[in-house]
Amino acid sequence: MNILGIETSCDDTSASVVVGTRVLSNVVSSQDDVHAAYGGVVPELAARRHLESIQSIVTRAIESAGIDYGDLDAVAVTRGPGLVGSLLVGMAAAEGLAVRLDVPLLGVSHLEGHVLSPLIETRIEFPFLCLLVSGGHTALYLVRDVGDYLEVAATRDDSAGEAFDKAAKMLGLGYPGGRAIDRLAKGARSDAIAFPRARVRRDDMAFSFSGLKTALWDYLRSHPATIDVEDVCASFQEAIVDALMDRCARAMDRLDVPRLAIAGGVSANSRLRARATEMLERHGGQLVLPAPAFCTDNAAMIAVAAMLRAERALPHDPPVAVARLPLAPRMTALA
Ligand code: KG4
Ligand code: ZN
Repeated sequence: MNILGIETSCDDTSASVVVGTRVLSNVVSSQDDVHAAYGGVVPELAARRHLESIQSIVTRAIESAGIDYGDLDAVAVTRGPGLVGSLLVGMAAAEGLAVRLDVPLLGVSHLEGHVLSPLIETRIEFPFLCLLVSGGHTALYLVRDVGDYLEVAATRDDSAGEAFDKAAKMLGLGYPGGRAIDRLAKGARSDAIAFPRARVRRDDMAFSFSGLKTALWDYLRSHPATIDVEDVCASFQEAIVDALMDRCARAMDRLDVPRLAIAGGVSANSRLRARATEMLERHGGQLVLPAPAFCTDNAAMIAVAAMLRAERALPHDPPVAVARLPLAPRMTALA
């Protein structure tokens, strides 16, 4: 079964062809050049750029998969969560193709795509924990099976990616800034500045990054002439990675699940990858870090999620765009 996936939930236009969990093609066109000047994604501009590029991205995905349109058995498309204007572009393209080819049109949750992305190239047994850390989301999920998820932890305010991007903006490092902070932090002192590690009262699993952002702002204002940007980056990054690793370690202990996957754009962070590797060596267990192309927004994860649901005869979502679409109920009493 060949599935074409289409993903346009935010600012990446992507199309991919998969057979099973094997990826035949995965074409992604980033819009960083469009949004960099604004320091964040501008929804109207994102939708327009998707419209300009979707047709050629789909054609490239079909061609580089070495198949014809007639070989497709289904079209899977991200239905949300995301920017509605952006989602609608992908959905219209997917619907047009599905009607023309007379194949099913399958709606897919963007978050389900991310939490199943560790299964793209690697074997990992269920249940596993999946830390999803991107610009749009920061949450830890217990993945009991395809279609069976519980939210173990989530952020109360900013996502980890947003925290990196806002810090980079304050430091004048451009947008998106996570990669720049990662690069500058290499070799610098991660204990140079004591940034706070926030705890949320009555929920010791929750993430909170807004106080960290304020702490950085205060630090920059009170030390205008003396800051060492590399040390600031390393210390700020360490505070984020500490929070992420703390919740992962505690969830692994409390739930007795020895498998952890990390997905989303922030999983490209070299310090997070090193700390997760160390933690799993200490703890024992399996760590899955999907290839970077499957961590950032991509259509392969959408097609694979649709495929895995189809294999288990699970129902698909209707192809209706929605801005908010929670993936899983909150796990209670994680003591
Ligand atoms: O998953 P993604 O490509 O898009 C969203 O769905 O948001 O994630 C983008 C986020 C941005 O906030 C970016 O700064 C962050 O991932 N990011 C990083 C690194 N590479 C990308 N953050 C920290 N370190 C990196 N190396
Ligand atoms: Zn995403």
